[in-house]
Amino acid sequence: MNYKRVITSVTKQLESTKDNGKVANYISELSSVDPSKFGVHLTTINNKHFNFGDANDKFSIQSIAKVLSLSLAYKLENEKLWKRVGVEPSGTAFNSLIQLETDLGIPRNPLINAGAIVICDILITHLENPKKDFIEFVREISGISTIEYCSRIAESEKATGYRNTALINLMKSFGNIKNDIDVVMDFYFNLCSIEMTCKELSQTFLFLATYGVSPYSEERVLSKSKSKRINAIMQLCGFYDEAGEFSFKVGLPGKSGVGGGIVAIYPSKYSVAVWSPKLNKKGNSFKGIRFLELFTTETEASIF
Ligand code: DON
Repeated sequence: MNYKRVITSVTKQLESTKDNGKVANYISELSSVDPSKFGVHLTTINNKHFNFGDANDKFSIQSIAKVLSLSLAYKLENEKLWKRVGVEPSGTAFNSLIQLETDLGIPRNPLINAGAIVICDILITHLENPKKDFIEFVREISGISTIEYCSRIAESEKATGYRNTALINLMKSFGNIKNDIDVVMDFYFNLCSIEMTCKELSQTFLFLATYGVSPYSEERVLSKSKSKRINAIMQLCGFYDEAGEFSFKVGLPGKSGVGGGIVAIYPSKYSVAVWSPKLNKKGNSFKGIRFLELFTTETEASIF
């Protein structure tokens, strides 16, 4: 497959697409990002690289990091994990409180905020030094030792984290949070603050295209079965109440973040990251989704 030709053709088509999205402004640090940024990086399982535009600019990966925290928690906790969080699509916004009350404090899945907060709680129980141990895990699977949290973003999240604080309090009242609320929230806000370039993001997620083995550390991150299940959760829950639409248009498992990043996986072929900060009404990158839709259409290849 000539990925270079397809990326060139798709980005050309995107030039004439009106971007109806808006940069996230509920976290002040995110609102100052240049809305015109656009980057793509595709890494194949044979370590071939294809990119376009601002692929080497750092941006806030936000909720995309939830897949990485889930991967580590699943590795450490195994199937016991699913007693604390479900695997069903929520069909609601990423920060919704609605279902949590009727579901007795068990989040529908680990990729909505409530589920990701439970995963943070689980990691705090397992890890001696959660923030340090987690970032080391990310560096190891990506082979990139410079990946870091951004304290400016984490502080900005904390300052406006009213809904997340409501979610954790509700779950604590149901007994589904075991550690101190402030400690869990500090870890959660830092998780969301991780910065990567499109190149780094596609490299970091390549282990989900290689059935759980990191091509960089050459170590097994997850068993084949666990890697399949993480991809299945991304397919069904990676875009919140737009997960069906993403599956329908793109046909790959993926995950978005309110920083405008999206990563999508084609198992046995590639991992691709796109970044365009303007978001649609569901909080997913408007141009990012359009790029991936055109990309899988032109390559005539998706997991379906
Ligand atoms: O919890 C929050 O509000 C954010 N820091 C993460 C949100 C996010 O990226 C949701 N994704 N699309």
